[in-house]
Amino acid sequence: MQLIDGKAVAAQIRREIAEEVVQIKAAGGKTPHLAAVLVGHDGGSETYVANKVRACEEVGFKSTLIRYEEDVTEKELLACVERLNQDAGVDGFIVQLPLPGHISEAKITEAIDYRKDVDGFHPVNVGRMSLGMPCFLSATPAGIIELLRRYNIETKGKHCVVLGRSNIVGKPVSMLMMQKATPGDCTVTVCHSRTRNIKEICLQADIIIAALGVPEFLRGDMVKEGAVVIDVGTTRVPSDKTKSGFKLTGDVAFNEVAPKCSWITPVPGGVGPMTIVSLLRNTLLAGKKAIYV
Ligand code: GUN
Repeated sequence: MQLIDGKAVAAQIRREIAEEVVQIKAAGGKTPHLAAVLVGHDGGSETYVANKVRACEEVGFKSTLIRYEEDVTEKELLACVERLNQDAGVDGFIVQLPLPGHISEAKITEAIDYRKDVDGFHPVNVGRMSLGMPCFLSATPAGIIELLRRYNIETKGKHCVVLGRSNIVGKPVSMLMMQKATPGDCTVTVCHSRTRNIKEICLQADIIIAALGVPEFLRGDMVKEGAVVIDVGTTRVPSDKTKSGFKLTGDVAFNEVAPKCSWITPVPGGVGPMTIVSLLRNTLLAGKKAIYV
């Protein structure tokens, strides 16, 4: 079994991006600028957004954090999105999800100019991704593909089983894995909460991408010898062994599954560190107007 070290790959890509930013600035180009909108004080969202802003600063981007209280109206948030759409100084922006129940996430996502949608959540970007066209890829699917690419893991003609059908991971990663590309060219099966015989299907998989959000769902007896396992799960499980009071737990029972794998991602340190890097890459592309003019 070999570990896929997402932390090391992410650090390498951050260095590559930082070098490119130095070159852009030296040539008198525009410093890429990411804005992040955070509504309320959810602990997870606070941490994620703080990490995104810090990552921007570390690679030399400009970043702006815009905060609203939990009771912001949908109209006010839509007006903020419109201001950012119009602001030529902002190359890309994100509205951190989840949003409070009185605000439609779909409405906000669609209001974002797809040319600044560095989350890759806008229907135009999702549609272009499905068609294999240039677009902003969403962070987690892009991170998974980049790990497979950097580790030269063979995907062509393999059977890839995706566990989970979420809009932000399961659906897009299944599209990318079936795409005529490298990595890609897989035969893809998508399983979800209503799937029968999940164990039998997983046992046929050469590659399993577990993105259900169910801690330790994938057990040792569900995986064939030599499989590649990508664990997207990041559930905060209470723990008295850590300072924060919780432990990040994946969708894979690592101790049972790892001995059977050719390659496996750990949690933490696998897919997680790659997601912010994908956002940085999209912001760099937005700054360079590399995808949309
Ligand atoms: N909430 C959880 N993940 C994400 C993400 O990648 N982008 C945004 N905007 N919100 C999230």
